[in-house]
Amino acid sequence: VNPHPQHIAIIMDGNGRWAEYHELPRIEGHRRGAEVSEDIINACIDRRVPYLTLYAFSEENWNRPSDEVEALMELLGLYLTSKRQKMIHEGIRFQTIGDVNRLSPFVREEVERTKELTQQGSNLTLTMALSYGSRQEIARAFQELIKRGVKNITPEILSQALDTRDLPDPDLLIRTSGEYRISNFLLWQLAYTELYFTETLWPDFNAYELDKALDAFSKRERRFGMTSEQLRELVG
Ligand code: IPE
Ligand code: IPE
Ligand code: MG
Repeated sequence: VNPHPQHIAIIMDGNGRWAEYHELPRIEGHRRGAEVSEDIINACIDRRVPYLTLYAFSEENWNRPSDEVEALMELLGLYLTSKRQKMIHEGIRFQTIGDVNRLSPFVREEVERTKELTQQGSNLTLTMALSYGSRQEIARAFQELIKRGVKNITPEILSQALDTRDLPDPDLLIRTSGEYRISNFLLWQLAYTELYFTETLWPDFNAYELDKALDAFSKRERRFGMTSEQLRELVG
């Protein structure tokens, strides 16, 4: 039986299909998805999960129709503006991974301000992946190490050059909407993460669904390359 995960990462997928199903514009699905994110953030605080990482916008999502991209950016900026005080109040430390330089000045400003003002939060580190691509992140890390003249690149040194340098690797990855792929999310960091997939669309996800994922996680045996017997000996 596993203890609770320290770090949960979520690929929040299915907003568009949810909207289509309800005969609403796609952006309504994103709006509803943003509300669900807030519920799940609170559920993680209640369950004393210290790290939550949410995939909100991928590098590849820039290729979507420009009206959807613009609407998503506006939603993101407004979300941060309206939730900032609550984040401070609840002890949430907000940070991001990804290439924030690609974000519009308005959104970048909101991101920076939220990071600054929530720095002291100690209940939950909420990391939003914004304009995030794992391959791009790894390539940026290598460029940085080359620039610094580092010759002996080890896994530890590479880990410390990634955007996630301050985060433990995720223990549990959840992807909603019945897609069974990683979509360029945390490729390096997910090496030994337990993967959990659900058919539920993100706007229909809730604390009960989260508990189902936590329950499944608790029953997994994380062997890290060893045998079950070795693990039993380790536990004693
Ligand atoms: C996830 O929902 C949110 C983002 C990628 C921004 P989608 O918009 O991908 O929803 P589907 O996959 O089209 O249903
Ligand atoms: C992954 O979802 C990115 C986010 C959830 C932000 P996508 O909907 O973009 O992934 P693909 O295109 O189906 O792989
Ligand atoms: Mg999708």
